[in-house]
Amino acid sequence: MTQPQDNQNIASLLLEQRRYPPSPDFAAQANAKADLYDGDPDEFWEREGRDRLSWFTPFTKLKEWDPPFAKWYLGGTLNACYNCVDRHVENGLGDKVAYYWEGENPADKITISYADLQRRVVKAANAFKELGVSKGSHVGIYMGMVPELPVTMLALARLGAPFTVVFGGFSPDSLSGRLNDMQCQYVVTQDGSWRRGKVFDLKVNADAAMDSAPSVTTCIVVKRGGNDVVMKDGRDHWWADVVDRQSDDPATCPCEPMDSEAMLFVMYSSGTTGKPKGVVHTTAGYLAGTSTTHHYIFDIKPETVYWCAADIGWITGHSYIVFGPLVNATTSVMYEGTPDYPDKDRWWDIIERYKATVLYCAPTAIRTHMKWGPEYAQRHDLSSLKVLGSVGEPINPEAWVWYRDNIGAGKTPVVDTWWQTENGMILISPLPGVTTLKPGSATKPFPGIEPAVYDNDGNEIPPGQGAGFLVVKKPWPAMLRGLYNDNDRFRDVYWSRFPGVYMAGDGARVDEDGDFWLMGRIDDVMNVSGHRLSTIEIESALVDHPEVAEAAVTARSDAITGQAVVAYVILKGGKDGSPEKAKELRDHVAKVIGPIAKPANIVFTPELPKTRSGKIMRRLLKDVAENRALGDTTTLADASIVDEIAARAKAEA
Ligand code: PRX
Repeated sequence: MTQPQDNQNIASLLLEQRRYPPSPDFAAQANAKADLYDGDPDEFWEREGRDRLSWFTPFTKLKEWDPPFAKWYLGGTLNACYNCVDRHVENGLGDKVAYYWEGENPADKITISYADLQRRVVKAANAFKELGVSKGSHVGIYMGMVPELPVTMLALARLGAPFTVVFGGFSPDSLSGRLNDMQCQYVVTQDGSWRRGKVFDLKVNADAAMDSAPSVTTCIVVKRGGNDVVMKDGRDHWWADVVDRQSDDPATCPCEPMDSEAMLFVMYSSGTTGKPKGVVHTTAGYLAGTSTTHHYIFDIKPETVYWCAADIGWITGHSYIVFGPLVNATTSVMYEGTPDYPDKDRWWDIIERYKATVLYCAPTAIRTHMKWGPEYAQRHDLSSLKVLGSVGEPINPEAWVWYRDNIGAGKTPVVDTWWQTENGMILISPLPGVTTLKPGSATKPFPGIEPAVYDNDGNEIPPGQGAGFLVVKKPWPAMLRGLYNDNDRFRDVYWSRFPGVYMAGDGARVDEDGDFWLMGRIDDVMNVSGHRLSTIEIESALVDHPEVAEAAVTARSDAITGQAVVAYVILKGGKDGSPEKAKELRDHVAKVIGPIAKPANIVFTPELPKTRSGKIMRRLLKDVAENRALGDTTTLADASIVDEIAARAKAEA
């Protein structure tokens, strides 16, 4: 096993002794009770799937498991949009707020009821239909956090057209790679999205991507930034031109009955090689898994005002801004902008104004707020908050306690939720009101989920006996059904190390109480600000620059972003680097992948540490990046090179 991500964090986790048992008041009103789960996963998921979802045809068989392929709720038909929108209107919840949408400009606010959402979705679906979208069409979505984004996802689900949402911060190359992989015929985008008062040219990027994605015939453009865009005749349509004139009567565009296992969407995620993996999610199991976890873990009540401060461009937004909350008829906040616009108290202002009862965000955001200081939160009344959530990376105990003390008034439960793009739904998390919380631990498996920690030989490591590979032994409803068009890679990445069980790629240990402590990735995947990045992908972006001969990328721990990208670069012709060249290379990585992948540090070096057989010893580069004593260097071809690199890295820092 390679080194998990953050040694200091792990050291502090091992020493962590604080315990927070549930308060009797919270427990008395909690959705989750101690007897929620009696140990029979099939009974649990059968009940949740039947009761929580509305079926056009009821399922006849709970699951089929032919490792690594799972099917859930077999024989059933349903529609994701119907479950998220229409049935709530039919059940008298039309006036209930689905989203309080707030633009980055604090003056931009829209309250969208379930009836409004239905009207918007029906109009969009009618427009898409008119443009030729039908059951089985593939659609790429490249947007910011505007209401039209969930509307588009729901309208496509209504028609039975699978989509892939590409995070708005990704580059044209990243977008075209995904459009080509999925052979998308349609793209939905915006003119521009707002970020810290400036417009980011999404359409310009989409144009560049579509130039190298020949499958795309039609593009729909939402006006938001007001920036100039070029509209290509015959291909591009303004959203308002095609959507506004459509009927909003649901009878004009009924929800397509879909098989339980019909593909709902593909979400691309970084793996250990250069090419992102197309993680496939289907309909019934995904909806059952996301809505069940959402209900119990965030203690969702009819009066809850829930805010997940993620971006819909990532899996967290799909599962816990769009599908899970809407299935549960939840009122959510959706925010377009950054936490520091116009000032660093924007989040707390939003919570106060909407009286939000749940906040779900990433540790990197919590650490950023810690750095800014508690005074920003103190300006606002946050007493509405009842549950705080964390996701995306290990949360260090200090950040956990700061979050509870300063945002949660020292009393709200903090649920540290572990899961992945591939999982679709939260797999390990406390149940507020039931679980005794431990800062830094995601605590217990969710009902019906059976994770374990294996040693190198595939033996389960008993509680309290040390760390190993996190695996999941049984299938779960929202699990990925494969990698799009790449079942060999699917088998190889997740199922080959320990046959028949899912290997997550994380290190973990289980303590004497059966609580899970996550210890970061054990492969070449990094986690920067809760975003997954692949070392190889960034290396490929660097060597794509004409002056770069060789590059090796590793991660170091960072107080705010969790991990930060460090790149060691050899320039062609033995040239020396400069701060200007470093900036140029950073910008190049941003251009090829997206700004989130920019290296924090670039160290120019004449050589990389290699074994005699020519393999780069990343372990040593990581030691240098972490500024710690070097591990075994005896297999190096030239041992002096690491000292040289270490000296250069120090100079660069
Ligand atoms: O390393 C784990 C980390 O994030 C990875 C999954 O990243 P992604 O697919 O982008 O999904 C992020 C949001 C679900 C995992 O392999 N991770 C996620 N949540 C936690 C975590 N690590 C520790 N604790 C968590 N709560």
